[in-house]
Amino acid sequence: MSGFVEKPEPIEVPGLVHLHTGKVRDLYQNEAGDLVMVASDRISAYDWVLPSEIPDKGRVLTRLSLWWFDQLRDLVPNHVISTELPEGAPADWEGRTLVCKSLRMVPVECVARGYLTGSGLAEYRESRTVCGLALPEGLEDGSELPGPIFTPATKAEVGEHDENVSYEEVARQVGAETAAQLRQATLAVYSRARDIARDRGIVLADTKFEFGFDGDTLVLADEVLTPDSSRFWPADQWQPGRAQPSYDKQFVRDWLTGPDSGWDRKSEQPPPALPEEVVAATRAKYIEAYEHLTGTRW
Ligand SMILES: Nc1ncnc2c1ncn2[C@@H]1O[C@H](COP(=O)(O)OP(=O)(O)OP(=O)(O)O)[C@@H](O)[C@H]1O
Ligand SMILES: [Mg+2]
Repeated sequence: MSGFVEKPEPIEVPGLVHLHTGKVRDLYQNEAGDLVMVASDRISAYDWVLPSEIPDKGRVLTRLSLWWFDQLRDLVPNHVISTELPEGAPADWEGRTLVCKSLRMVPVECVARGYLTGSGLAEYRESRTVCGLALPEGLEDGSELPGPIFTPATKAEVGEHDENVSYEEVARQVGAETAAQLRQATLAVYSRARDIARDRGIVLADTKFEFGFDGDTLVLADEVLTPDSSRFWPADQWQPGRAQPSYDKQFVRDWLTGPDSGWDRKSEQPPPALPEEVVAATRAKYIEAYEHLTGTRW
């Protein structure tokens, strides 16, 4: 079992039709047929949406995505139409609501990796490959790869694990031409972002993008290069051969799997609420990531 510990009710806004409650974002459609994407303060870990929220997280993710879309504008078009609050929307949607082009989404999680860790490391240890791509011997947790690689995954339902797949499998599912476009765009965007992050003392270890089509045009969608979709490591502490400290949910994962939570990840039980200090530390990490990357104060 997994999924939502408490699934939130959609907000009723005149003129908006609720489409979907995602793990973190709520989707609505406005009367023009555009997508209204509202980022919540929800946080997920171990395939659960937790019963605690992280104050300001939705605004941090939204503002950071917008900043990145700007940095990437010349490489790939993005789905943002406007940051204006739809008429009649609750005031607390301000800063975390984007009106976006409603795209025909490509059902592939487009992951780029420049460093080896997580599910990539697990596959490497089994077979010296990641998503079927052969890698050199001798890599460890946190090692930089010879060059960035495209390691796609299929998109899972809430509560299910995404599954790494080979490039050939993606080509079978979406067609060879689209697969090639996804790979090219994913690696180009990753490489740009990695360089920008590096200049700011942050290692962009890996990240996930989602793309959709507007007619025949491939468009960058969803959120981009946030701590929810990426692994960011402080560059001055990077040291292959161990788990890296990171600007993300590490406090949450550590607490949930540690002795104080009383929760067993393998059990069928939903995870408990987070203590105040874990919420505060996590909020601080998200804000720190925002400030370091953008070079502006939150
Ligand atoms: N421009 C767009 N057009 C259509 N759908 C989009 C667009 N941008 C993002 N999405 C979809 O919006 C949803 C964002 O919500 P969120 O990230 O909270 O969901 P998720 O839990 O990752 O995914 P899901 O609940 O669909 O499994 C995703 O399903 C994403 O594919
Ligand atoms: Mg998502």
